[in-house]
Amino acid sequence: MKFFVDTAEIDAIRELNDLGMVDGVTTNPSLIAKSGRDIFEVTKEICDLVEGPVSAEVVATEYDAMLREGEHLAKIAPNICVKVPLTWAGLKTCKVLSAQGTQVNVTLCFSANQALLAAKAGATFISPFIGRLDDINIDGMELIEDIRTIYDNYDFGTEILAASIRSANHMKDAALIGADVATAPPGVIKAMINHPLTDKGLDAFLADATKAGIKIV
Ligand code: E4P
Repeated sequence: MKFFVDTAEIDAIRELNDLGMVDGVTTNPSLIAKSGRDIFEVTKEICDLVEGPVSAEVVATEYDAMLREGEHLAKIAPNICVKVPLTWAGLKTCKVLSAQGTQVNVTLCFSANQALLAAKAGATFISPFIGRLDDINIDGMELIEDIRTIYDNYDFGTEILAASIRSANHMKDAALIGADVATAPPGVIKAMINHPLTDKGLDAFLADATKAGIKIV
């Protein structure tokens, strides 16, 4: 499973990228606003830092304006992936941009039928939002499972990008189901390493090493 980082914070992306944990980045208008930076400036910086796809989201809702924005965002760097909402205007924009050779991430997916439409429109990625479904007591992982089945039934090339990930368990479950990609905040990716038995075991090894006077160099 590929790891995308869901943030527009450069330092956090760099830290994980140096560890080989970043296959791409996703942003959205809320994350750009949180960074407090200009969308073009910060997105260009991310594109220069990371080799994989960097999702940058349109803000227009009508097709003509959305396409213009998508084409404008696509000029930032070759690894830009234009993010469009799961609306008819978004799907039309997706179809046109995909035909032009631009990667497209269709976002705000909350049903298997929406994912089916996005695949037919030629989306590079579909982003089902797990956490936001869990928030309203609907099992987000079931949606990932359904989309996996449907895409595999018909060999759709669209990649399933599990989004709105809130915990390390979400990462594990998405990987078990076979999501192609999971995008998560840096803190969630970092939390994947935590295990109390690792800490306890390391403490014991270090205590024994000190007692025995073990020195390696
Ligand atoms: C990523 O592409 C999404 O915009 C993001 O994962 C949404 O996450 P949230 O539901 O935690 O805001």
